[in-house]
Amino acid sequence: MRSFVRTVGPSRVLFGAGTLQQVRAEAERLGGTRVLLLSGPSLRKHADRVRAALGDLLVAEFDGAAMHTPVEVTARALAVLHEQRADCLVALGGGSTTGLAKALALRTDLPQVILPTTYAGSEVTPVLGETAKGEKVTRSSPAILPETVVYDVELTLDLPVAMSVTSGVNALAHAVEALYSPDADPVTDAIALEAVSAIARALPALGDDPSDLEARADLLRAAWLAGTCLGTVGMGLHHKLCHTLGGSFGLPHAETHTVVLPHAMAYNAPAAPEAMARIAAALGVPEAPGGVFDLIRAAGGPTSLRELGMAEGDLDRAAELAASKPYPNPRELTRDGIAGLLREAWEGRRPTGAPAPAAAAAAPDLSALTGEVVASFDNCPDPRAKELLTDLVRTLHGYAVRNDVTQAEWQRAIGFLTEAGHITSDTRQEFILLSDTLGVSSVVDALSNSRTPGTTPSAVLGPFYVPGPPAAEHGSDIALGLAGTPLWSDVRITDPQGAPVAGAVVDVWQSDADGFYDIQLPDLDGPVLRARFHTDDDGRVTFWSILPSPYPIPDDGPVGRMLEAVGRHPYRAAHLHFLIKAPGYRPLTTQLFVKGGAYLDGPPGQRDTVFGVKEELVTEFAPRTGPTPDGRPVEGEWRLLEFAFRIARTVPTDPTETA
Ligand code: BEZ
Ligand code: FE
Repeated sequence: MRSFVRTVGPSRVLFGAGTLQQVRAEAERLGGTRVLLLSGPSLRKHADRVRAALGDLLVAEFDGAAMHTPVEVTARALAVLHEQRADCLVALGGGSTTGLAKALALRTDLPQVILPTTYAGSEVTPVLGETAKGEKVTRSSPAILPETVVYDVELTLDLPVAMSVTSGVNALAHAVEALYSPDADPVTDAIALEAVSAIARALPALGDDPSDLEARADLLRAAWLAGTCLGTVGMGLHHKLCHTLGGSFGLPHAETHTVVLPHAMAYNAPAAPEAMARIAAALGVPEAPGGVFDLIRAAGGPTSLRELGMAEGDLDRAAELAASKPYPNPRELTRDGIAGLLREAWEGRRPTGAPAPAAAAAAPDLSALTGEVVASFDNCPDPRAKELLTDLVRTLHGYAVRNDVTQAEWQRAIGFLTEAGHITSDTRQEFILLSDTLGVSSVVDALSNSRTPGTTPSAVLGPFYVPGPPAAEHGSDIALGLAGTPLWSDVRITDPQGAPVAGAVVDVWQSDADGFYDIQLPDLDGPVLRARFHTDDDGRVTFWSILPSPYPIPDDGPVGRMLEAVGRHPYRAAHLHFLIKAPGYRPLTTQLFVKGGAYLDGPPGQRDTVFGVKEELVTEFAPRTGPTPDGRPVEGEWRLLEFAFRIARTVPTDPTETA
């Protein structure tokens, strides 16, 4: 299980084209009556528009922000701020101007509205790096986090391609380091991967047409996403190295990020193989460090510290400095290791990692073919179908390319699916088994259900649900005399606050003591161990059945052979299925697992084979002897299951609401 803590700062973000016009409203929203505008001399045209938009709210300006936020510059801006009694900061520019706004906010607690013109991402972090006496000191505080960020894509249109590349790679570095950070969580992972693939798409597109507004929007959105990663998780080797090189050797910030990133990744790759594989997949390349190097080189970005003006003689001292303070990083940091990395970066060598560029170059460029197939959906009238098909094609083409799939392998895959089709019938669903055993069902389940806090988690439906099960009375025995340890289930359905839900429809189904569902047993006469109940006024349902046991999913077909081929068992942990529906509530499909049973925990591949177990669903099926709740005579042991399901209300407009 992956544990995590996630804290997100309270920033407000406006994103679009022309959003600059809202800067006055945003400053006023923060209580601003006297604005100090921070900008740079190169942004005169945009600054004029900001001035016009701010109108008489603007009382002072400062345009002297410098790289790495030197404290002397901050002191000068602070004097202007006090002199003009400013009560709100508006910053138009890149990382340096944002840095100055943050440094001023830290000292005065004034609110900030940031209008980024580059892809730095620092506007959404509570982190400030200041330089004093040649050393960069980084600190984090809620006062540093800008209150409002106005992303106006039009502000980035003039950013020269070279700066767009280095700034975009700066954002890429945030996403990459987030993916192997020990503080990462599933949300950060998803955001970071989205940022990586958007950057991989946008950089080549900008090379073709620097005024491509969609590519600019992709890059700006990626910068924001990557910036939020930077704000929620700690950064590792790459960022520390860049701070050292910038703060102590005066190297330019974004260019340094661009050169160092592939080498920092190559250093960390052996200790973070999973993150690297996900990055490679998001980039659509065989391996991540080399892929990032190639992306930068193709976009015309700098690839060596030498070309940034770093003296060869400084390499050792830089390695010494970077290794001197401990910080979290996936791979152990040694002075020699960092020195080697810096040497490679200084020389500008492509990081070595399989496969070599020659092999990559040998693969044909199939982007035109992929583009043509994607374009064939242009007239699809259903936008969602178009979106899903487009990404499916991109993913499948990327999969084939990244793995250099052979004709024979693809033929085998088609044979597998053909067999899955042949074995599928009204009572056997091989495609559900495939989706379940690859974890896709659990992914879709997690995306579409279990999202309301305080409600019972969902679990996969599985292939053995039969719609419209036989109605049963409370207290009846749905095992119809089948052998097994008697089980008395006493379950309640409540709303998220614990109030009973009366009249809810509760379908239950389970396997017999040998692990078979009735529809798998042709000799059985009618449905067994499946029933439909309605809750009483107390939201309750009670019934007898038998204790479920672990069972193998049907493994005599292609999915079973796949499990065997990869050394996986076919077993599910023992469970009881529930499908609960009530008007005004979201349907809940879930399972309760027998606590203490097999396949609930252990290493991956030894747990429940369909990845269905969730901790909150593992329940006591308590052993009992003696009198039973309804007085039914039972000899020997019987089990007691008591559970309260909390189901989520539907929002009035929710399309999943059932009558
Ligand atoms: C089940 O629990 O019924 C089940 C779920 C997924 C695959 C096979 C069986
Ligand atoms: Fe089941």
